[in-house]
Amino acid sequence: MLLTNLTLAAMVNGYGLIPDGAVLIEDGRIAWAGSRADAPGGETVDCRGRLVTPGLIDCHTHLVYGGNRANEFEMRLTGVPYAEIAKAGGGIMSTVRATRTASEADLLASAGRRLETLLAEGVTTIEIKSGYGLDVDTELKMLRVARHLGKMYPVDVITTFLGAHTFPAEYKDDHAAYVRLVCERALPAARAEGLVDAVDAFCEGIAFSVAETELVFKAAKALGLPVKLHAEQLSNLGGAKLAARYGALSVDHIEYLDEDGVSAIAASGTVAVLLPGAFYYLREKQHPPVAALRSNNVPIAIATDLNPGSSPVHSLLSTMNMACVLFGLTPEEALLGVTADAAGALGLKDRGVIAPGRRADLAIWDAERPGDLAYPLGFNPLAAVIRNGELIRGSLP
Ligand code: NIG
Ligand code: FE
Repeated sequence: MLLTNLTLAAMVNGYGLIPDGAVLIEDGRIAWAGSRADAPGGETVDCRGRLVTPGLIDCHTHLVYGGNRANEFEMRLTGVPYAEIAKAGGGIMSTVRATRTASEADLLASAGRRLETLLAEGVTTIEIKSGYGLDVDTELKMLRVARHLGKMYPVDVITTFLGAHTFPAEYKDDHAAYVRLVCERALPAARAEGLVDAVDAFCEGIAFSVAETELVFKAAKALGLPVKLHAEQLSNLGGAKLAARYGALSVDHIEYLDEDGVSAIAASGTVAVLLPGAFYYLREKQHPPVAALRSNNVPIAIATDLNPGSSPVHSLLSTMNMACVLFGLTPEEALLGVTADAAGALGLKDRGVIAPGRRADLAIWDAERPGDLAYPLGFNPLAAVIRNGELIRGSLP
């Protein structure tokens, strides 16, 4: 199939814009991409001048969970801080209670609805974390649901084990015992069932210390799993430096990351994942160090962080807009952040750009230029999606 008459944003060295472009797809892969004038032959599909980008990648979500936390949204707006709600047994723990009691079918249904809203904006790959179980059975239940979603919906699901999300009430006086449960029981069990692609932790004053995080990283490495980290979201504990030492795929949030931390992740090739949805909902003041990330050539990804507490954001396009307006990213950086650099944050080398040999995961937009994607808020110009070389949404031409 040769797609022609399109504006191509290949996302190679920035937009990698080709104004009158064409893409040849063979066996689910991109066989060729370039100017229409140079296009090889093939069964031609006229895209009527539409914009074509790689399929979008949401590289950080907590999509699977029970219940909701609208009550805490109300509380925060009467002035109760996020960390205080968490300390009082709300926050992550209230979602843990709801997730433990939910059946696998309930979780699948509620997460499926949320997933559909993301797919309607051209998402073809999504990362989903556990972390609302905090016991062996529920962590595995969440990861099974995540894997199941990848079979039910036309999307690739990358799973991340986040047993170290917070300390469950049962272990509030024995943190060491919970860390052992995570490292010695939950993670190995999840891994044995093939449910884990990467391991994450929440390194923060209200969650895991740097030393506790390191134990989780050691357990991950012993099982041959890559790591990533929720780091320096509410304070600067030095989690990102630790993550860099373990060759982390990404460090996420990083509002409080300092220059030293930026140098460390630059040296380790770790992707910086910015989560403007959480910054927006928590009405944070501290901005991530975007200028330092740029000057150190750290790849920047952005993601919804879709979760019931700090970021009930169900739109990657809106997240791109927020990254621009709140963090000062350019629309080009925002699009790189949900394509090429989001692939990097997941350790995926086969997608995120439109180039020969990569997967033919493409989003086709009723837009003239790539800057049109981050510019509006609440407007979805998606026309069609091709995944693995097959049209799975919309119609062409
Ligand atoms: O990425 N920071 C920790 N974890 C989530 C929040 C989870 C929650 O509040 O339920 C986050 O923001
Ligand atoms: Fe998160």
